Order: sequence, then structure tokens, then C-alpha cells
Amino acid sequence: LSSNYLDILGSQKLSGHIRVSGAKNSSLVLMVAALLTDSSVFLSNVPLLSDVESMSKILLSMGLKLRRNQNQLEIITSGLSLFSKNLSCEVFHELRASFFCIGPLLARFGEVKIPLPGGCRIGARPIDEHIQGLRALGAIVETKNEYVVAKTISPQKRLIGARIKFNCKSVGATETILMAATLAQGTTILENAAQEPEIQDLAMMLNEMGAKIQGAGTSQIKIEGVDHLNGCSYTVMPDRIEAGTFLVAAAITRSPLTLSPVIPEHLETVILKLQECGCLIECKGDTLRIIPRKNLQAVDIITSPFPGFPTDLQAPFMALMATVKGISKIEETVFEDRMQHLREFQRMGAKILLDGNTAYVIGTNNLKATSITGGDLRSCAAMVLVSLAANGTSVVRGLEYLDRGYEDFAGKLNAVGANISKVYSIPLASDECD
Ligand code: UD1
Repeated sequence: LSSNYLDILGSQKLSGHIRVSGAKNSSLVLMVAALLTDSSVFLSNVPLLSDVESMSKILLSMGLKLRRNQNQLEIITSGLSLFSKNLSCEVFHELRASFFCIGPLLARFGEVKIPLPGGCRIGARPIDEHIQGLRALGAIVETKNEYVVAKTISPQKRLIGARIKFNCKSVGATETILMAATLAQGTTILENAAQEPEIQDLAMMLNEMGAKIQGAGTSQIKIEGVDHLNGCSYTVMPDRIEAGTFLVAAAITRSPLTLSPVIPEHLETVILKLQECGCLIECKGDTLRIIPRKNLQAVDIITSPFPGFPTDLQAPFMALMATVKGISKIEETVFEDRMQHLREFQRMGAKILLDGNTAYVIGTNNLKATSITGGDLRSCAAMVLVSLAANGTSVVRGLEYLDRGYEDFAGKLNAVGANISKVYSIPLASDECD
């Protein structure tokens, strides 16, 4: 674990504009999608994050070459040499999205052996939907020791289109099977597909590469398999979760902020909840302006797959609810173990009761700064947010999580008036997350 930490002076007002970075979760899967072609893929607006670095290491370990210039990333896939190497478990364990590689690799080569994924500590996060989907496309899939081994059964070594109904809405499984089906023989229909904007972003890039995908963003996706995909140039969409986090930063400090670029439709549920609790939100093109009222009120949220309230903003929203008038009921339905941040908020004086996966948050305007630690990416962001509202100087640890998913988080907040300093000390060991 990194022993670096942030010193955050609370109760500072913010004002100004924050630039929203490219989406982390899109970037990761778009990098994986490059494995579907033997030509180069140019991505723009790729955020500078440790998760992107981890995915880069994974692609490098397969023989790909990468050229990076700030937020531009060129992925040169011609050197892909999967079967000459035993892929290192260590680098695959660094992030869960590593497992998405199974779809493209199996579709292109007819066989694959990749390490089981890592992931944030927010519940079991199984991979059964990915595996069942690949089996439905005509693959034999087995788990051996730390690896998943998969092989196509058709003599042409190709996957075969099928009708697949997912048992649960999974972003990762939808992405894995979507990528695999682009190069399958025949047509695939995905039912009960996840509808997250990241899936639309992936389908848009794949279609640029020559895939034939319709319906991404709805619960039914149709994919007509093609023989070959080309390279492409593609710009990663803005990060809706980062934007949502900054909206909460404005609300929790009762300060006006302007954010761009955003795709407002990606944030509809979040915007509605913030309006319900007393924030004025103006939307012009790709720009959002939030003006919170002084007296915000508690609102209830239930996390659910898109277009529902995103689980990734549950912890930031709980931070906000800890500071407003009234009692808020917050129910987590996507992950079974995503309430660890609650204990840290309680240590600052927040009154929160937990009943299973439902938290009852009794807001107060008197949170006291202390030393708190984020246990996963989004809860660490929530630690920073709650510190912005507390009286005094807080210490926030767990930055190895924050750096995975937020580009220059402290720097962006400081540029609009926060008072956050990063304190460097000697690292102890490495760790993993989502
Ligand atoms: C992705 C996001 C993560 C976000 C999550 C939900 C990436 C890299 N990460 O994670 O930030 O919090 O979506 O919006 O894009 N499940 C199964 N079987 C499976 C797969 C999933 O039961 O085979 C369950 C999970 O345990 C979980 C739920 O489905 O309870 C949703 O998981 P999923 O949508 O797959 O999340 P990820 O793709 O891992």
C-alpha cells in the first residue's frame, strides 16, 4: 500500500470550471477491443490513470506496442504473440477489466488461456455470465488453477453467432460477448444486455472498425459477425462518473461549479437527484453548471444498472447526504459489499445506520476532520469529498485507489479553490482494485 496521503483543509468554497477527462471504463475496454484487429488503433482523450497503465502493461505483455503522447494512445497490434508466452497473473490481477481480453482473443485465434481477473473489494464479482456467453457462442471454457482456458469447437476455429440471454445485467459480460460476437460466424442477439454508455462507446468504436452492431444502449443488441476488423481512430467519451463526482463536490461545499465536456443524458438520474435535494443545474450543450442552495435536503437513492443511479456514485452521494438536512435512505443493489466507506464517515461524526445493504444517513452540518482511508476507488473519492465539507484538516489515505480512476483529482479541485496537498512518503507494497 502507498503511504502517500492528502491533507485537505475543509470548509473552503469552490468556484470556476473543471475539465472532465475521458472515461476510465471506456478507455479500458476500447484498449482491449484493439485486440480484435491486426491494424493500429488510435485513441484520443485517454485519461492518465494507473488503471490505463495497468491495461497498457497487459497489452505489452502480449507483444503489442504502444505509443503515448499525453491523452493520445496508439495501439500497434501487429506484434500480438499470445501463445509464445505464459501471460503473467500478476499484471492481470491488477484490474478486473483484464478479463475482457478473453472475448477478442478467443474470437481472433480460436483459443486462449488467460489469468483470472482481479478487482476492487466490493463483493464477489463473479465471471459466470462471461463464461456462459462464450459457451453459447460455441466455446469450451474451463478454469484451471489461476487461468481460464477457452477453445472454439468449430473446425474453422470461429465462434458461432447465437441468441444469448444474460441472467443479470453485467457491463463486463456484455462487453466481453459483444466483442467476441463481432468476429463470429452469423448473427448474435444479446438479451438483457447492460445499457451503460460505455457499451455504446464500445459499439461505436467497433462499428468504426467495420463491425455490424445495432441496439447498443438498449437491452437487446444485434451483432452480425464479420470476417475481419480494421484499425480506426476514436475519441473516448467524457467520464460520467468523474463528472458526477465533481457535481457532488460542488453540492457538498455549497459552491457553484461549471463542468465540461459532459454528455448530459449520461447523468440524467444523478442530475434529477441533485435537483431534488436543492441544486439548480443548468445544461447547455456539453456544459453543466451547478448552483447548490445553501440548505440542501435529504433524498433517497437506490443504485441500479443504467439508466438507474450508478453504483459508482453511491459513496460520493452518501458523503453529500451526511451533510444535508433530514434522513436519507441509500440502498445498494448492484454490489453486495459496497458500504465500507460508511465507517469512515461515522468517524467524522456522521450518523449512519446500516441495515443489510441499506444505509440510513442522518445529515449534520458539523462533520469533524480526522484521518480516513478509502478502501476502493469510489470510496476514496468520497473521502476527499467529505473532507471538503468537514471542519478542520483531514488526512485521506488510500490514494493508490484514487489514482486508478481520477486524473489529477486533487489538482483539478485545487484549481477551483480547494486546499489539498499531497504528502509523499515511502511506499510499502502494491495492491489491487477495480
Ligand atoms: C463495471 C465497471 C464498474 C461498475 C460496474 C457496475 C468497468 C471496468 N467497471 O464493472 O466501475 O461499478 O460495471 O456499473 O467497466 N455479475 C455476475 N456475473 C458475472 C458478471 C457480473 O453475477 O459474470 C454481477 C456482479 O457480481 C455485480 C453485477 O453483476 O453484482 C454488476 O457487475 P458488472 O456490471 O459486471 O460490473 P463490472 O463489469 O465488473
